Amino acid sequence: MIKFSKRIQKVKPSATLTINAKAAELRAQGKEIISLAVGQPDLAPPESVLVGAREAIDKVMTKYTPAGGLPEVLDAVASYYNKFYDTDAKKENIIVTNGGKQALYNLLQILIDPGDEVLIPSPYWLSYPDMVLLAEGESVIVPTEPEQNFMVTPQELEKFFTSKTKVLILNTPSNPTGCHYDQELFDEICNWAISKDIFIISDEIYDQLVYPPATPTSASKWFKSNPENVAIVNGLAKSFAIPGWRVGYVITHPDIIKNLSKLQGQSTSNVCSIAQMATLRGLTGELDFLEKNRKKFIQRRDYIVDRISFIKGIVCPKPMGAFYVFPKIDKLYTKEINSSTRFCEYLLDEACVALVPGIAFGDDRCIRFSYAVDISILEKALDAIEKAIEKL
Ligand SMILES: Cc1ncc(COP(=O)(O)O)c(C=O)c1O
Repeated sequence: MIKFSKRIQKVKPSATLTINAKAAELRAQGKEIISLAVGQPDLAPPESVLVGAREAIDKVMTKYTPAGGLPEVLDAVASYYNKFYDTDAKKENIIVTNGGKQALYNLLQILIDPGDEVLIPSPYWLSYPDMVLLAEGESVIVPTEPEQNFMVTPQELEKFFTSKTKVLILNTPSNPTGCHYDQELFDEICNWAISKDIFIISDEIYDQLVYPPATPTSASKWFKSNPENVAIVNGLAKSFAIPGWRVGYVITHPDIIKNLSKLQGQSTSNVCSIAQMATLRGLTGELDFLEKNRKKFIQRRDYIVDRISFIKGIVCPKPMGAFYVFPKIDKLYTKEINSSTRFCEYLLDEACVALVPGIAFGDDRCIRFSYAVDISILEKALDAIEKAIEKL
């Protein structure tokens, strides 16, 4: 028998697996399943990234690059962020990573010692707790309520603070809720964290998918004043619609960048050179598509929120960003269908719609809808869901 490490045995398999396996089973039986479980944009990427990738191939860019990224790409990330936010980032503040995921994973690896505590407001992006576990840290989950748009306040965080608290992970707009902190509340939280010497990891991967009247929120100001206490994580997966090309980046203090580069240099090394060239052309190219994409997502968000809010017994906070809705549906639970997983299984069987159970994100009262699909698909899915709920 293979003896696997204790480390890997502790990692939870993705909770979405059950639903996906069931969806595949039903498809194999010839059923048409609509998936609203997707975590990537369905929109086309801008031409600029395709041009960059072709250019890399035409120039036969097949060699290794520096582990942390090509210098011109680092410059492009810095200018791109400085254009949107009040940062003064330079090359030495940047590393290019294999997606935002590796950025988060490696940050936790270089910051956390066994037993250090990481504050994670819940609902959270499902990889955070397992990343903390793999860094031998302890996740401290801070619950929030849909009635408060799933927001935490410094006062609530304070209740979970201990002498072991080392890191706070913030994610706005949020996956899975789509809820979004305004800059004022976000600043209050950062101010509190910095006063306690807590390191802030600000996951800003959906920052270009924020819908008016809301505006993007960033830890940029805190990076500028306290770079040794703040890391901004972002990438091109969501805003440039190239999730499979695996480009993320971190903006932080140069000494943190050096350690991230050391770790990356001994593990994955550089991000694929073709994807780096796509990044360079994307970040320095025409950005009009960002506004067009936002408009599309706003239409879909309005449609899905209207439809879900119409269903009796559901509390549906209006998301101000990303492409997810996270309604609270526990009032509809029955004796048998008494958890978010069971509820999703029921909707899959009865409505042929795949959704992600809220338990995967730390909240068993909710389910996650993704609206990264055409409105005609949303309409079909919601019609079927409404009928299935009527039967409960
Ligand atoms: C909140 C959040 N952070 C980070 C990521 C990682 O993105 P990627 O590794 O594709 O850049 C995702 C992807 O779904 C996400 O939803």
